[in-house]
Amino acid sequence: MVPATPVSIAQAAALVADGDVCAFPTETVYGLGADATQEAAVLRIYELKGRPRRNPLIVHVPDVAWAMRVCAAFPPLASRLAERHWPGPLSLVLPRGAHIPDIVSAGLPSVAVRVPAHPVALSLLRAARRPLAAPSANRSESVSPTTAEHVLRSLPGVPLILDGGPCPLGIESTVLDLTQPRPRLLRPGALPLRDLLSDVPDLELPSCHFDEVPGPLPSPGLLTRHYAPKATLHLVSNPEARFVAGLPSPTGLLTHAPLPQLDGLCDVVERLPATPEAYAVDLYAALHRLDDQGMRSIVVLAPPRNEDWRAIFDRLERAASKAA
Ligand code: TXA
Ligand code: MG
Repeated sequence: MVPATPVSIAQAAALVADGDVCAFPTETVYGLGADATQEAAVLRIYELKGRPRRNPLIVHVPDVAWAMRVCAAFPPLASRLAERHWPGPLSLVLPRGAHIPDIVSAGLPSVAVRVPAHPVALSLLRAARRPLAAPSANRSESVSPTTAEHVLRSLPGVPLILDGGPCPLGIESTVLDLTQPRPRLLRPGALPLRDLLSDVPDLELPSCHFDEVPGPLPSPGLLTRHYAPKATLHLVSNPEARFVAGLPSPTGLLTHAPLPQLDGLCDVVERLPATPEAYAVDLYAALHRLDDQGMRSIVVLAPPRNEDWRAIFDRLERAASKAA
């Protein structure tokens, strides 16, 4: 783990050119990068993360011209979105170009591509002069890293981690599929849905409980487990003292509002801001802190059920779901 400087960035660029991997900061989370055009290098990513091979990777490029080289087609909507949101936390799924091997996209005919808005990521991409396939730099299914320290603890085998400080946005990019006639949201993320809907009014949203009248949360067991801390996470709309007192301790509380009924009942309280963007910045770091302090249970006050909180809700639900 080294501070990101022109010298260490040049070292990282040489490593990836040589078919190795390195971790680097982006504005969303830290990524584990490898040359997207070298199959063996990309394979290293899957091995280091323990990632299932059927889960495709996002290809990072320094600008739109590079994105066009990575894709077999770049429709006008992609150009408009790129112009408005790149560099930034938006990944576009487009037809895959011939230089990108199957392994990057888990055999799909498409490829996800984005231009990250972090000076270190951009410098690395320019120095490397090649597209970098980069998932979040953590063991598969665990909480994504928002500091270099998180990467080091999750993936001690990574040969080089560029430390660029904490990630300014804190959750992963929004992923949009542009390969179908109608654009589709594949993953809500750091680019607010509101911004996207103004550019793509016919955006297809996955059906979800935000449309329903208030009621019990849907069974998290149906979701793929992901972003999960070591402790058992309980996502609760109205945490009652009796419920919390009965959980295996030590118990951590993650909340964005005061909960006087729980005063004194939890061993550690993490208070996050009550707006979704600010909440996102510290969410993963708070989960890492609770894990580091040995919590066995984490109670999370469910955020409001509306579109502004969709990306956060998605992460919390997956973190709360039981292992398959
Ligand atoms: O913010 C981010 O996107 C971070 C930073 C490092 O850029 N990266 C990241 O990568 O979150 P990862 O691997 O953790 O998540 C990639 C997501 C997955 O949900 C994957 O299924 C989806 O993108 N994805 C990638 N390629 C795809 C494709 N060709 N078709 C559909 N989904 C794809
Ligand atoms: Mg990930």
